[in-house]
Amino acid sequence: MWLILTLACGAKTDSDSGADAIATDVDSNPCDVHWDGWANGFFSTYCRSCHSSTSEQRHDAPMGVDFDTQADIEMWLERIEVRVLDEETMPLGGGIPEIDLERFATWMDCQENP
Ligand code: HEC
Repeated sequence: MWLILTLACGAKTDSDSGADAIATDVDSNPCDVHWDGWANGFFSTYCRSCHSSTSEQRHDAPMGVDFDTQADIEMWLERIEVRVLDEETMPLGGGIPEIDLERFATWMDCQENP
């Protein structure tokens, strides 16, 4: 409804400025999915049982390969991309639903090309 009102207003005024306003108002940038809003939860759900400095059972995940913070992720970005998206060999045992994998691929793209 809000969008329709915006469109209606845009049509009434100068069409150039109306189009600009709509483009910036609509939240359509896939890179608006951020760490707190989504990625932190992804790593918590799929990785931190093994890859966390506070994990009690790492299942042989190498020491220091932890995904607790955004800085950790930045450090491991390339390997995470290879293991999760290219080879699909992490998480150990698999199990990420397709929809989460797709969203993760988008999030990773945004980290590499902000
Ligand atoms: C059940 C435990 C477990 C889970 C869950 C898990 N891993 Fe791992 N991970 C391991 C083990 C064991 C290794 C070392 C053996 C290997 O590299 O295959 C490892 C190694 C890694 C490495 C370092 C090796 C390399 O290729 O550079 C990365 C990066 C990695 N995992 C990413 C992830 C990501 C990202 C997730 C979540 C999407 C995840 N893992 C979930 C157990 C796990």
